[in-house]
Amino acid sequence: MTDLNRYTLITGGSDGIGFELAKIYAKNKDNLIIIAKDEIKLKNAKSRLEDDYGVIVEIIQCDLSVDKGYKKIIEVVEEKNLIVDNLINNAGIGCFGFFHDLEEGLEEKIININITALTMLTKYFSKKMVERRHGGILNVASTAAFIGGPKMSIYYSSKAYVLSLTEAIHDELKDLGIRVSCLCPGPVRTSFQEKAGIKKSQRSKRYLMNASDIAKCAYREFSMGNTIIIPGYKNKLLILGNKLIPRALGRRIILKNNS
Ligand SMILES: NC(=O)c1ccc[n+]([C@@H]2O[C@H](COP(=O)([O-])OP(=O)(O)OC[C@H]3O[C@@H](n4cnc5c(N)ncnc54)[C@H](OP(=O)(O)O)[C@@H]3O)[C@@H](O)[C@H]2O)c1
Repeated sequence: MTDLNRYTLITGGSDGIGFELAKIYAKNKDNLIIIAKDEIKLKNAKSRLEDDYGVIVEIIQCDLSVDKGYKKIIEVVEEKNLIVDNLINNAGIGCFGFFHDLEEGLEEKIININITALTMLTKYFSKKMVERRHGGILNVASTAAFIGGPKMSIYYSSKAYVLSLTEAIHDELKDLGIRVSCLCPGPVRTSFQEKAGIKKSQRSKRYLMNASDIAKCAYREFSMGNTIIIPGYKNKLLILGNKLIPRALGRRIILKNNS
Protein backbone atom coordinates (compact mmCIF):
# COMPACT_ATOMS: atom_id res chain seq x y z
CA MET A 1 0.00 0.00 0.00
CA THR A 2 1.31 3.45 -0.86
CA ASP A 3 0.82 6.38 1.49
CA LEU A 4 -0.76 8.95 -0.86
CA ASN A 5 1.08 11.99 0.42
CA ARG A 6 4.59 10.57 0.92
CA TYR A 7 7.12 10.72 -1.87
CA THR A 8 10.66 10.05 -2.99
CA LEU A 9 11.88 13.05 -4.97
CA ILE A 10 14.52 12.45 -7.65
CA THR A 11 16.13 15.27 -9.62
CA GLY A 12 17.06 13.98 -13.06
CA GLY A 13 14.62 11.10 -12.58
CA SER A 14 13.66 10.84 -16.26
CA ASP A 15 16.85 9.20 -17.56
CA GLY A 16 20.12 7.45 -16.68
CA ILE A 17 20.90 6.65 -13.05
CA GLY A 18 17.95 8.74 -11.80
CA PHE A 19 15.42 6.78 -13.85
CA GLU A 20 16.89 3.47 -12.68
CA LEU A 21 16.57 4.67 -9.07
CA ALA A 22 12.98 5.76 -9.80
CA LYS A 23 12.17 2.22 -11.00
CA ILE A 24 13.55 0.67 -7.80
CA TYR A 25 11.65 3.07 -5.52
CA ALA A 26 8.45 2.54 -7.55
CA LYS A 27 8.90 -1.23 -7.35
CA ASN A 28 9.07 -0.79 -3.57
CA LYS A 29 5.77 1.14 -3.74
CA ASP A 30 7.10 4.63 -3.10
CA ASN A 31 5.28 7.47 -4.86
CA LEU A 32 7.64 9.64 -6.85
CA ILE A 33 8.34 13.24 -7.77
CA ILE A 34 10.69 13.35 -10.73
CA ILE A 35 12.36 16.44 -12.08
CA ALA A 36 13.99 17.18 -15.44
CA LYS A 37 14.20 19.77 -18.21
CA ASP A 38 12.60 17.87 -21.07
CA GLU A 39 8.83 17.62 -20.51
CA ILE A 40 8.25 14.87 -23.07
CA LYS A 41 10.87 12.62 -21.49
CA LEU A 42 9.32 13.33 -18.08
CA LYS A 43 5.83 12.40 -19.29
CA ASN A 44 7.14 9.18 -20.84
CA ALA A 45 8.93 8.26 -17.61
CA LYS A 46 5.77 9.02 -15.59
CA SER A 47 3.58 6.73 -17.76
CA ARG A 48 6.12 3.91 -17.65
CA LEU A 49 6.51 4.10 -13.87
CA GLU A 50 2.77 4.41 -13.18
CA ASP A 51 1.83 1.62 -15.61
CA ASP A 52 4.54 -0.78 -14.49
CA TYR A 53 4.40 -0.23 -10.73
CA GLY A 54 1.00 1.34 -9.88
CA VAL A 55 2.43 4.27 -7.90
CA ILE A 56 1.68 7.99 -8.18
CA VAL A 57 4.28 9.94 -10.13
CA GLU A 58 4.32 13.75 -10.02
CA ILE A 59 6.50 15.47 -12.58
CA ILE A 60 8.08 18.91 -12.30
CA GLN A 61 9.61 20.37 -15.43
CA CYS A 62 12.39 22.78 -14.53
CA ASP A 63 15.88 23.76 -15.55
CA LEU A 64 18.17 23.44 -12.53
CA SER A 65 21.09 24.98 -14.41
CA VAL A 66 19.52 28.45 -14.38
CA ASP A 67 19.72 30.87 -11.46
CA LYS A 68 17.29 29.73 -8.71
CA GLY A 69 15.83 27.03 -11.01
CA TYR A 70 15.35 24.80 -7.94
CA LYS A 71 12.70 27.18 -6.50
CA LYS A 72 9.97 25.74 -8.73
CA ILE A 73 10.40 22.35 -7.00
CA ILE A 74 9.83 23.87 -3.56
CA GLU A 75 6.82 25.85 -4.82
CA VAL A 76 5.12 22.78 -6.33
CA VAL A 77 5.83 20.59 -3.29
CA GLU A 78 4.37 23.26 -0.97
CA GLU A 79 1.37 23.97 -3.20
CA LYS A 80 0.45 20.27 -3.42
CA ASN A 81 1.37 19.59 0.20
CA LEU A 82 3.62 16.66 -0.73
CA ILE A 83 5.74 15.04 1.98
CA VAL A 84 9.21 14.11 0.79
CA ASP A 85 10.58 11.10 2.68
CA ASN A 86 13.62 10.66 0.45
CA LEU A 87 15.42 13.37 -1.48
CA ILE A 88 17.74 12.17 -4.23
CA ASN A 89 19.87 14.97 -5.66
CA ASN A 90 20.94 13.16 -8.80
CA ALA A 91 20.74 15.69 -11.66
CA GLY A 92 24.15 16.88 -12.70
CA ILE A 93 26.05 17.96 -15.79
CA GLY A 94 29.69 18.00 -16.79
CA CYS A 95 31.88 19.70 -19.33
CA PHE A 96 35.18 18.96 -20.97
CA GLY A 97 38.08 21.27 -21.85
CA PHE A 98 40.60 23.68 -20.39
CA PHE A 99 39.13 25.93 -17.70
CA HIS A 100 40.21 29.14 -19.47
CA ASP A 101 38.62 27.99 -22.73
CA LEU A 102 35.19 26.96 -21.38
CA GLU A 103 32.21 28.37 -23.22
CA GLU A 104 31.06 31.59 -21.53
CA GLY A 105 28.47 30.86 -18.83
CA LEU A 106 28.93 27.08 -18.80
CA GLU A 107 30.73 27.10 -15.46
CA GLU A 108 27.79 29.02 -13.96
CA LYS A 109 25.28 26.45 -15.27
CA ILE A 110 27.30 23.60 -13.77
CA ILE A 111 27.58 25.36 -10.43
CA ASN A 112 23.82 26.11 -10.44
CA ILE A 113 22.81 22.49 -10.95
CA ASN A 114 25.65 20.49 -9.35
CA ILE A 115 26.17 22.75 -6.33
CA THR A 116 23.49 25.40 -5.74
CA ALA A 117 20.34 23.38 -6.51
CA LEU A 118 21.67 20.38 -4.55
CA THR A 119 22.56 22.58 -1.56
CA MET A 120 19.28 24.50 -1.49
CA LEU A 121 17.12 21.38 -1.87
CA THR A 122 19.14 19.61 0.82
CA LYS A 123 18.69 22.61 3.12
CA TYR A 124 14.93 22.92 2.52
CA PHE A 125 14.07 19.23 2.82
CA SER A 126 16.49 18.39 5.64
CA LYS A 127 14.77 21.00 7.81
CA LYS A 128 11.40 19.30 7.20
CA MET A 129 12.94 15.89 7.87
CA VAL A 130 14.46 17.08 11.15
CA GLU A 131 11.00 18.32 12.24
CA ARG A 132 9.56 14.86 11.50
CA ARG A 133 12.67 13.04 12.80
CA HIS A 134 12.48 10.94 9.66
CA GLY A 135 13.84 10.89 6.10
CA GLY A 136 16.80 10.29 3.85
CA ILE A 137 18.99 12.30 1.49
CA LEU A 138 21.11 10.72 -1.23
CA ASN A 139 23.44 13.11 -3.04
CA VAL A 140 25.09 11.95 -6.24
CA ALA A 141 28.75 12.92 -6.58
CA SER A 142 31.31 10.83 -8.50
CA THR A 143 34.71 9.19 -8.11
CA ALA A 144 35.77 12.60 -9.52
CA ALA A 145 35.11 14.01 -6.03
CA PHE A 146 38.37 12.58 -4.69
CA ILE A 147 40.91 14.48 -6.81
CA GLY A 148 41.41 17.59 -8.97
CA GLY A 149 40.50 16.83 -12.61
CA PRO A 150 42.50 18.69 -15.28
CA LYS A 151 40.31 19.39 -18.36
CA MET A 152 37.19 18.70 -16.28
CA SER A 153 38.06 21.11 -13.47
CA ILE A 154 34.61 22.55 -12.74
CA TYR A 155 32.94 19.14 -12.77
CA TYR A 156 35.52 17.49 -10.50
CA SER A 157 35.49 20.37 -8.04
CA SER A 158 31.68 20.50 -7.98
CA LYS A 159 31.63 16.82 -7.01
CA ALA A 160 34.29 17.39 -4.31
CA TYR A 161 31.90 19.96 -2.83
CA VAL A 162 29.01 17.45 -2.93
CA LEU A 163 31.08 14.80 -1.16
CA SER A 164 32.33 17.18 1.53
CA LEU A 165 28.89 18.69 2.21
CA THR A 166 27.23 15.29 2.34
CA GLU A 167 29.78 13.78 4.74
CA ALA A 168 29.35 16.74 7.10
CA ILE A 169 25.55 16.59 7.04
CA HIS A 170 25.63 12.81 7.48
CA ASP A 171 27.32 13.34 10.84
CA GLU A 172 25.01 16.21 11.83
CA LEU A 173 21.80 14.29 11.14
CA LYS A 174 22.63 10.67 11.92
CA ASP A 175 21.31 10.86 15.50
CA LEU A 176 18.10 12.58 14.38
CA GLY A 177 16.76 9.64 12.37
CA ILE A 178 17.85 10.96 8.98
CA ARG A 179 20.07 8.97 6.64
CA VAL A 180 22.44 10.99 4.45
CA SER A 181 24.62 9.28 1.85
CA CYS A 182 26.87 10.26 -1.01
CA LEU A 183 26.88 8.10 -4.14
CA CYS A 184 30.21 8.17 -5.98
CA PRO A 185 29.99 6.23 -9.26
CA GLY A 186 32.86 5.89 -11.71
CA PRO A 187 32.02 6.06 -15.44
CA VAL A 188 28.47 4.89 -16.22
CA ARG A 189 26.84 3.93 -19.52
CA THR A 190 24.39 6.87 -19.89
CA SER A 191 24.15 9.88 -22.17
CA PHE A 192 25.96 12.02 -19.54
CA GLN A 193 29.45 11.64 -21.02
CA GLU A 194 28.38 12.46 -24.57
CA LYS A 195 26.45 15.54 -23.36
CA ALA A 196 29.57 16.66 -21.46
CA GLY A 197 31.69 16.29 -24.60
CA ILE A 198 33.82 13.50 -23.12
CA LYS A 199 35.37 11.21 -25.72
CA LYS A 200 36.09 7.78 -24.27
CA SER A 201 38.92 5.58 -25.50
CA GLN A 202 38.16 1.90 -26.15
CA ARG A 203 40.24 1.08 -23.06
CA SER A 204 38.29 3.36 -20.76
CA LYS A 205 34.96 2.07 -22.14
CA ARG A 206 35.81 -1.19 -20.38
CA TYR A 207 35.31 0.59 -17.05
CA LEU A 208 31.76 1.72 -17.81
CA MET A 209 29.12 0.31 -15.46
CA ASN A 210 25.38 -0.02 -16.15
CA ALA A 211 23.07 2.58 -14.63
CA SER A 212 20.83 -0.19 -13.27
CA ASP A 213 23.74 -1.73 -11.31
CA ILE A 214 24.64 1.70 -9.92
CA ALA A 215 21.04 2.24 -8.81
CA LYS A 216 20.79 -1.19 -7.15
CA CYS A 217 24.00 -0.61 -5.21
CA ALA A 218 22.91 2.92 -4.25
CA TYR A 219 19.50 1.75 -3.02
CA ARG A 220 20.99 -1.06 -0.95
CA GLU A 221 23.74 0.98 0.69
CA PHE A 222 21.58 4.09 1.18
CA SER A 223 19.04 1.89 3.02
CA MET A 224 21.90 0.69 5.23
CA GLY A 225 22.88 4.30 5.99
CA ASN A 226 26.39 4.12 4.52
CA THR A 227 28.07 7.52 4.28
CA ILE A 228 29.96 7.06 1.00
CA ILE A 229 28.76 4.60 -1.64
CA ILE A 230 31.28 3.60 -4.31
CA PRO A 231 29.74 1.06 -6.71
CA GLY A 232 32.03 -1.61 -8.21
CA TYR A 233 35.29 -3.08 -7.00
CA LYS A 234 37.34 -1.35 -9.76
CA ASN A 235 36.14 2.05 -8.53
CA LYS A 236 36.87 1.12 -4.91
CA LEU A 237 40.40 0.13 -5.93
CA LEU A 238 40.78 3.36 -7.91
CA ILE A 239 39.90 5.45 -4.85
CA LEU A 240 42.24 3.41 -2.68
CA GLY A 241 45.02 3.81 -5.29
CA ASN A 242 44.35 7.55 -5.33
CA LYS A 243 45.12 7.73 -1.64
CA LEU A 244 48.38 5.81 -2.02
CA ILE A 245 49.97 7.76 -4.89
CA PRO A 246 51.06 11.42 -4.80
CA ARG A 247 48.14 13.70 -5.78
CA ALA A 248 50.25 15.30 -8.54
CA LEU A 249 50.74 11.89 -10.14
CA GLY A 250 46.99 11.18 -9.95
CA ARG A 251 46.25 14.47 -11.72
CA ARG A 252 48.89 13.74 -14.40
CA ILE A 253 47.18 10.43 -15.14
CA ILE A 254 43.79 12.18 -15.47
CA LEU A 255 45.26 14.84 -17.77
CA LYS A 256 46.83 12.14 -19.95
CA ASN A 257 43.51 10.24 -20.13
CA ASN A 258 41.72 13.47 -21.02
CA SER A 259 44.14 14.42 -23.82
N1 LIG B 1 27.36 8.83 -16.32
C1 LIG B 1 28.52 8.89 -15.66
O1 LIG B 1 29.58 8.48 -16.18
C2 LIG B 1 28.56 9.42 -14.25
C3 LIG B 1 29.68 9.11 -13.45
C4 LIG B 1 29.73 9.59 -12.15
C5 LIG B 1 28.72 10.40 -11.66
N2 LIG B 1 27.64 10.70 -12.47
C6 LIG B 1 26.61 11.59 -11.91
O2 LIG B 1 25.36 10.90 -11.90
C7 LIG B 1 24.30 11.84 -12.02
C8 LIG B 1 23.33 11.37 -13.08
O3 LIG B 1 24.06 11.23 -14.28
P1 LIG B 1 23.55 10.30 -15.49
O4 LIG B 1 24.75 9.65 -16.05
O5 LIG B 1 22.39 9.48 -15.08
O6 LIG B 1 23.09 11.46 -16.51
P2 LIG B 1 22.01 11.47 -17.69
O7 LIG B 1 21.78 10.10 -18.23
O8 LIG B 1 22.49 12.54 -18.59
O9 LIG B 1 20.66 11.93 -16.94
C9 LIG B 1 20.63 13.17 -16.33
C10 LIG B 1 19.24 13.46 -15.78
O10 LIG B 1 19.27 14.79 -15.26
C11 LIG B 1 18.35 15.61 -15.97
N3 LIG B 1 18.91 16.94 -16.18
C12 LIG B 1 20.02 17.27 -16.90
N4 LIG B 1 20.19 18.60 -16.91
C13 LIG B 1 19.17 19.12 -16.17
C14 LIG B 1 18.80 20.43 -15.82
N5 LIG B 1 19.50 21.49 -16.26
N6 LIG B 1 17.71 20.62 -15.05
C15 LIG B 1 16.98 19.57 -14.62
N7 LIG B 1 17.28 18.29 -14.92
C16 LIG B 1 18.36 18.08 -15.69
C17 LIG B 1 18.15 14.89 -17.32
O11 LIG B 1 16.92 15.22 -17.95
P3 LIG B 1 16.83 16.41 -19.07
O12 LIG B 1 17.97 16.19 -19.99
O13 LIG B 1 15.49 16.28 -19.66
O14 LIG B 1 16.95 17.65 -18.29
C18 LIG B 1 18.16 13.44 -16.86
O15 LIG B 1 16.92 13.09 -16.29
C19 LIG B 1 24.96 13.20 -12.31
O16 LIG B 1 25.01 13.96 -11.13
C20 LIG B 1 26.37 12.83 -12.76
O17 LIG B 1 27.29 13.84 -12.45
C21 LIG B 1 27.53 10.23 -13.74
